[in-house]
Formats: sequence, structure tokens, C-alpha cells
Amino acid sequence: MTALVEPTTLAGLRLNSHFVMAPMTRNHSPGGVPTAEVAAYYRRRAEGGVGLIVTEGTLIGHPSASHETDVPRLTPGAAEAGWRVVTGSVHEAGGRIAAQLWHLGSLREPVDGYPAWTPDTMAGRDFGELLEAYAESARTAVSANFDAVEIHAAHGYLLDEFLWPHTNHRTDRYGGGPRGRATFPAEVIRAVKAELPPTMPLIMRFSQFKERDYAARIAETPAELGTILTTFAEAGADVLHASQRRFWEPVFAGHRENLAGWAKRLTGLPTITVGSVGLTGRPLDELGERHARGEFDLVALGRILLGNPCWVHLAAAGRTAEIRDYRKADEDIYY
Ligand SMILES: Cc1cc2nc3c(=O)[nH]c(=O)nc-3n(C[C@H](O)[C@H](O)[C@H](O)COP(=O)(O)O)c2cc1C
Repeated sequence: MTALVEPTTLAGLRLNSHFVMAPMTRNHSPGGVPTAEVAAYYRRRAEGGVGLIVTEGTLIGHPSASHETDVPRLTPGAAEAGWRVVTGSVHEAGGRIAAQLWHLGSLREPVDGYPAWTPDTMAGRDFGELLEAYAESARTAVSANFDAVEIHAAHGYLLDEFLWPHTNHRTDRYGGGPRGRATFPAEVIRAVKAELPPTMPLIMRFSQFKERDYAARIAETPAELGTILTTFAEAGADVLHASQRRFWEPVFAGHRENLAGWAKRLTGLPTITVGSVGLTGRPLDELGERHARGEFDLVALGRILLGNPCWVHLAAAGRTAEIRDYRKADEDIYY
């Protein structure tokens, strides 16, 4: 813990600690506009010792992204103004904040007959429309004073559906082997990167598992993973956020390294690890040991922060008696 609570830099961004708040959808933004309550919620985590907040998934401005009305958008106008208040609150508390850009792909509920957009159904102008929507959200992130942008390409949503052979049967340049499957996500990286000032980091979040299939994999071998992640790096990703459910689980048989460890080894980019930190009684020593060995640079915290905005401070001070155990019901509180 000692090294992890020290300040650090991530792709040039100065952070108060090595801890990241993982993106968590909370449905507290009526009409897609984050409120003062949302600003206070994120500010509390910055005050509690988190160095970098990654927002909940924010929707790009395209009707295919989602029909959800309480999920925040990252689009010009009211949502942009709401986010400006959020970023200001986090900055006042000494924190940094990245916006996560989200398109649900086939996991969008089919409402009013609007068809889900998936790798297999997208055609022609659809690609350009989505690239422009991602670019618009990136411009909005800049004007709303975010410090970084994260592209959500994990957990079975649209960009991950391109990466996963099970949901990508295209035979054109967007399909086939790992490089083809990574092509559209890489085009999104390029479109977003083109809107960001050169000093503003772009984080790419990816996973093997899907929300609806924990055993799924985008890469069966280190070589396949290397091809996908190198494609991201070449397109302009500055940081890789390797999502897994438990940070100590190996990815490939015969190797102890976790997904962030592989991402770092295969690309040389800084990485963020995540997965059940502080949840199961798994000793934090192992997290520190893996970090000391250089397996990852930063550590994201998800569920433990729901009931413990100050978890970083409490854990660092050894005040474990004051830490509330995570319970599923924590997902219903908003504080
Ligand atoms: C309520 C909830 C909402 C989530 N929403 C998102 C999201 O919008 N985007 C995303 O990339 N991951 C999302 N996740 C996954 C988390 O970012 C994180 O990877 C996961 O909770 C594992 O970390 P933990 O074990 O520390 O909770 C969500 C998780 C939870 C519990």
C-alpha cells in the first residue's frame, strides 16, 4: 500500500495516488445530464484518495448507443455543462477525471423497433457516423475540462463485439484475424485521439470476459493479444486498462501474470489493473508485490468504493475496522 498511495504520473498526467476509480454505471443522470449529486459523488472519491476517476460509461451521441435515459451522455449542451461542474468539483479536491465513452452494441435494449447495431449488422455509412459521434464526445470531453478519455472496448459492448470472433463474422477488413477484428476499435482510437490536445491521455479499456459470458476470450494466445494491443498502441492509445474480475488470476496457462501484466509486456504501455481489490480478504500485500514487480502501473477500485468513498485513506492508514464490507445492496446507495 505504501508505494501505491504515493503520487505518480500516468502518460504525463500527475496523480495524487496510484489508485483509480473504476467506471461504474449508476443511473443518476436524468435525461443524460449529470447533476450536482453526481459531482458530489465523484468529488467524495477524489477527497478519499483516488488519484484518477474514470467516470461511469457516458453515451456517445448516436441513437444506437443506448436508449437509457438516466445514463449520462457526453454530448454538447446540457450534458457538457453538467460534466463541467463534475470535473471542476473533482479538480478542487485535487483529483483527476477521465470520461469513459460508451456504445452498448447488441446489449442495447431493442426499444421501439430500433435495431441493435452490431459488427455483423453495421454497413456502409454506419462506420463513419459512429466515428463522428465518438469524435464529438471527445471534443465535448475537452471542452468540459476532463483530464483524459477512456474508450470502453470491454465486457461485450460494441467495440468488444468487434474484437470477439463469436460476435464478429465479417469477411471485410473489419473481421477475420485479430488485426482485422481490432481495426474498427483502432479507427475509434484515431478519431478520438485527433480531437485531444497532445498532452491529454487516451486510455483503452478491454477485457477477455463478457458480461454475459465470463469464459469468453478475445485472444487465445499471447501472440493474438499482442496483435490486438499493438494495433491499439499504433492507433494512439497511451494507456491500457485491462479489465478482469480478479486481479490475481492468470490469463494464459503456465504464466502467473494477469491481463495488465501481459498488456504491459506486449506493448510497453502503462497499464491499469482491476478486479476485486479490497473485496474478498485477498491480502493487499499481493497487489503491492505485483505492482513492485512492474506488472501494472495503477490499480482500479470498483465495488469497494461504493460504500467506502475513503477506502484509499482508510486502507493506507490500516484503519480496516472502519471499512464496510462490500454488499450487493451497495449498488443501490448513491453517496
Ligand atoms: C454497478 C457497476 C457498474 C459498472 N459499470 C461499468 C461501466 O459503465 N463501464 C465499465 O467499463 N465497467 C463497469 N463496471 C465494471 C467495473 O469497472 C469493474 O471493472 C468491476 O466492478 C470489477 O472491479 P471491482 O471488483 O473492484 O468491483 C461496473 C461494475 C459495477 C459493479
